[in-house]
Amino acid sequence: MADKKAWLSFSDREDKIELAVHSGTVGPDAVDIAGLYRDAGVFTYDPGFLSTASCSSAITYIDGDKGILRYRGYPIEQLAAESTFLEVSYLLMYGELPTREQLDDYVCKITHHTMINESLLRFFEGFHYDAHPMAMMVGVVGSLSGFYHDSIDMNDPQHRELAAHRLVAKMPTIAAAAYKHNVGERVMYPRNDLSYVGNFLQMMFGRPCEAYCVDPLAERALDLLFILHADHEQNASTSSVRLVGSSGANPFACIAAGVASLWGPAHGGANEAVLRMLEEIGDASQIDKYLDKAKDKDDPFRLMGFGHRVYKNYDPRARIIREVCLQVLEKLADSNNPLFELARRLEERALHDEYFLERGLYPNVDFYSGIIYRALGIPESMFTVMFAIARTAGWVSHWMEMWDDPKHRIGRPRQLYVGADRRDYVPLEERRD
Ligand code: CMC
Repeated sequence: MADKKAWLSFSDREDKIELAVHSGTVGPDAVDIAGLYRDAGVFTYDPGFLSTASCSSAITYIDGDKGILRYRGYPIEQLAAESTFLEVSYLLMYGELPTREQLDDYVCKITHHTMINESLLRFFEGFHYDAHPMAMMVGVVGSLSGFYHDSIDMNDPQHRELAAHRLVAKMPTIAAAAYKHNVGERVMYPRNDLSYVGNFLQMMFGRPCEAYCVDPLAERALDLLFILHADHEQNASTSSVRLVGSSGANPFACIAAGVASLWGPAHGGANEAVLRMLEEIGDASQIDKYLDKAKDKDDPFRLMGFGHRVYKNYDPRARIIREVCLQVLEKLADSNNPLFELARRLEERALHDEYFLERGLYPNVDFYSGIIYRALGIPESMFTVMFAIARTAGWVSHWMEMWDDPKHRIGRPRQLYVGADRRDYVPLEERRD
């Protein structure tokens, strides 16, 4: 498979270990260390996977230095301008843009899997009235595996495909039901005459006592945000889905693990944290104080929505979102939105500050998305849920890709053990402080 080679030498050994080097289509080569322990008796050490490729994948390509993001080769800017979320989710799952017939068939399938079992709906009653919707998402998504027994045979590609369709289709229904539980309103059933996003808005904001009319601006803005959040190669939640899936766990359990991982403030929870931060900053006169806090190593405060493990340049998604944010606020006659103004000023100051420039810290996808969500009437607690709905398309695509790879095996990292060496048990009465 590989023509290129690398050699590893040690200061205390004569021999050199030969390692194969694999080249991808684009992007950096990868040194193959799979046989290193067998050949040299050592592990590699890379906490946080800073330089380790955990798999090969043909789904998403990122060049963080150049600010490039492509799904299946297509630039995110083109998909954002031309495509729809369901077309993008087809592209991620199957590798090619669909023909008209394929797209119609896919949309029809997703539309007809949006209902959830009535018993599942009763789960929400068991949650506290103010439970965080992500808590409900983790629980209810995982429990899908107790209902859909005809799509959990991992060795059957048709089961895998059916599970993937069900997950993409049911996430908005579960998300909206979680919201309705929080606000104490009756769950709205899906409507097959609406688009994926239109239906979600209807389930969120519709009420049984009156007809709901989908606002085309809100529908397009949310669809676009879903496209931008649909995949991002081997991030923490996608890697969690792959790792859980590598043991043969069912797809619903795997996606629940992805939701749990996404919840953290360093990952999908950042969009919620950005709004809290902007509200705490309050007005432009406080920006310098908060930038100083972000730079102070003794202060845990970080500029939320800033920085990225991969992008050391402007996150291309943030650029698109900033533009859309302005359009949405203008159309909603809210262009003087104080939080948007504050975010713009904060960004401008940070981008002229040595600390942020030296470290390549730029606004990421979460910096402006919360402002749009809020303008659309979506509460903060639901921001990460929005991310989870969109990212499900990526999660199931990676999970399917892993199962299609004949070389996949259970994920089992090694460790550098730094604990106590062998020692003998001391009876309780003989132990001293
Ligand atoms: N504010 C202030 N300093 C920062 C920030 C920030 N937001 N992000 C990184 N730094 C500093 C960090 O202190 C370190 O400085 P030094 O080299 O002096 O020790 C340097 O920049 C490198 O940071 P790191 O923590 O080693 O970088 P990482 O790749 O491990 O972390 C990150 C990436 C996204 C977790 C981090 O930038 C962060 O916490 N950002 C804020 C949270 C956020 O917006 N998360 C959303 C990420 S995008 C959406 C998603 O993937 O879900």
